[in-house]
Order: sequence, then C-alpha cells, then structure tokens
Amino acid sequence: KVSQRKKLLKIHKLATQFYNYLLLKSDLGQEAYNYLLERGFDKETIEKFQLGFAPNRWQGLYNFLSDKGYSDQLLVKSGLILPRKNSDGYYDRFRNRVMFTIFDHRHQAIGFGGRVLSNEEQPKYLNSPETPLFDKSKNLYGLNWAKQEMRKTDEVIITEGYTDVITASEFGIENVVASLGTSLTSQQAKILNRYVERVYIAYDADAAGAKATLRGLDILKKEGLDVKVISLGHEQDPDEYIKTEGKEVFLQTKDNATSLIQFKINQVLKDKDLSNVDERVNVVQDLLPILNAIDDGVERDEYLKQVAEKLQIRLEVLRSELNKFEKSEH
Ligand code: UTP
Ligand code: MN
Ligand code: MN
Ligand code: MN
Ligand code: MN
Repeated sequence: KVSQRKKLLKIHKLATQFYNYLLLKSDLGQEAYNYLLERGFDKETIEKFQLGFAPNRWQGLYNFLSDKGYSDQLLVKSGLILPRKNSDGYYDRFRNRVMFTIFDHRHQAIGFGGRVLSNEEQPKYLNSPETPLFDKSKNLYGLNWAKQEMRKTDEVIITEGYTDVITASEFGIENVVASLGTSLTSQQAKILNRYVERVYIAYDADAAGAKATLRGLDILKKEGLDVKVISLGHEQDPDEYIKTEGKEVFLQTKDNATSLIQFKINQVLKDKDLSNVDERVNVVQDLLPILNAIDDGVERDEYLKQVAEKLQIRLEVLRSELNKFEKSEH
C-alpha cells in the first residue's frame, strides 16, 4: 500500500508537470510565458525552476488528477483542490496564475505559489495552505537549488520572494533562498544553520521589509549565525536591483552590509528630526536597550561614540544614561 505522503508527493509532481506543460507547450500559457519573458526570465531559467501556468478554468487540474484515479478526498488534502461551498463538486485553487513550485531540500515538490499576471488583481500571490507535506514555516524557497553553493561558500542571502531567488540564479548567484513571505522562523534559521555560518538578509527596501529584517535578525542571531543586512535603497527588491544594477554591483552590497546592531541603530535614527530636543530624548531612550544588549565592551564603546556624535551629546552623558538603564533592568 502506497502511503498517503507518497501519493501527495506524486500529486505535487504531476501538478508541476501539468502547469509546466501548459506554460511551455500550450496556447493557454502563451500570455503567461510572454509575461515571464518580459520580466527578463529566459527559457533556461523557466525550465530550471519548472515554472508553470494554472489555466483560467475551474476544473483544469481537478480533471487531470481525477482522471489519474486520485480520490476527491486526497486531492482536497493536497491543498490544490477545494470543495465547492454551495453545491457538490470541486474546483482548482490556482487559476489564471503563473505557478512557482516549492520544492523541499531533496527536490520534491511540496507546495505552490501562484502569481497574478496583472498587478491590479489582488492578492498578488496565492500560496498552498498548510498540508501534510507543506509547512511554510519549515521550508525555504530555493534551498534545493542553493544548498550546494551555500555549503561551498558558507554563506546564504535570504530574500523575501520567489522572483528574487530566480533572478539571482539567472545572474549566476546561486546561494539565495526566500523565506516565503516576510517572517523568518526559528525553524528556518535552524535549517540554514546546517549549511552556512553567515547570513545576509536582503529584504525589500520598504517598511514591511525593514520590520521583517528586524525580526529576522534576532531569530538568526539566536541560532548562532553571523548575520548582516544588505540595504538596496530606492524601494527595490533583489530582483529589481540585480536587473537594473547587475550581478557585480549587487554582490558589492555585501561589502557594505551592516551589522545587527548598526541596522537597529539606523532604524531608530531614520527619519528623526535630531535638531528637536524632545525627539533626541526619545531617540536616546529607544537606543539604550540596543546599546545595553551589546555584550562586548569594546564594541559597545564604539557604538556609544558613534551615537553620541550623531546626536551631538557628550559621551559621559550617554554613558550615565546607559548605566541608569542597566540598573533599571535588574
Ligand atoms: P512581494 O510583494 O515583495 O512580491 O512579496 P515579489 O516577490 O517582489 O513579487 P513580484 O516581483 O511582484 O512578482 C514577497 C513575497 O511574499 C509572498 C510571496 O512569497 C512573495 O514572493 N507574498 C506576497 C504572498 O504570499 N502573498 C502576497 O499577496 C504577496
Ligand atoms: Mn560550515
Ligand atoms: Mn515587498
Ligand atoms: Mn519583486
Ligand atoms: Mn519584492
């Protein structure tokens, strides 16, 4: 008897082939294929990542998989098929979307992300729900392709999205994964820790990306990883950045990557009017827990000097504020 898990893996494999075939070989996939070409993905890349197209049909995948003998119950378990709400019957979760297959580290298809073709439609991406195969907090998009280069370089670049990973690869940067959305989990950090020592966070240069970076930093640090933050600027993500600036300029952002502490300090100082005394008082209060958390005395002293200089306050004053803060913590 074939286990349920094996059957679900087979369903995901078949679905990947179904979507991929429609993208590459059918008229239905023509618009999606052109969309990908216009975004700058070439045929080789589309094939490597086994991209696909979910047709604009209610039962395209459902009929395909039913004909192969899979039960409705199992198809619903796969997350790819949904039961109709107000009548009998079933329908495809993903319709009229460019499909990204999510593989586990052994290159087995376990889930999908589907993107709309026009940015007006919402939501932009639809992903597989939690299934017996797929737990998004325990997987990283791209790990199956990236792991070899990760081991070799001892480094990984974490991005937010599918297309960041794919564009990086197209430009020959292979040690890149995506955290599938914006919140990195400790399980994902543990997985990365098996392959690398150093992690570069390259999240989108927007408010959501910065917030996610702050959370991700602490999670990665807790796992003992050496973490740095790449800043892209101009509201870009790695996909856009690599396409406009090229491989070498993108890789140079690693040399200017900031430390955990520096990133946190910069976030507090960002958009603050430091000529305003009240604002400066607040900024100092926000910086104290960050400075206090630096274990190494020399390092702490360096940041104290930097902050005192930026805020135009005397170093002794900042030190005594930090002492007060430390006492109040105990
Ligand atoms: P982004 O909004 O940054 O999209 O979301 P993107 O990856 O840059 O996509 P393109 O370039 O417009 O195609 C980052 C990631 O967050 C998840 C997806 O995994 C996406 O790649 N996401 C985003 C969702 O799951 N649902 C959404 O509606 C949006
Ligand atoms: Mn190592
Ligand atoms: Mn974003
Ligand atoms: Mn993007
Ligand atoms: Mn993005």
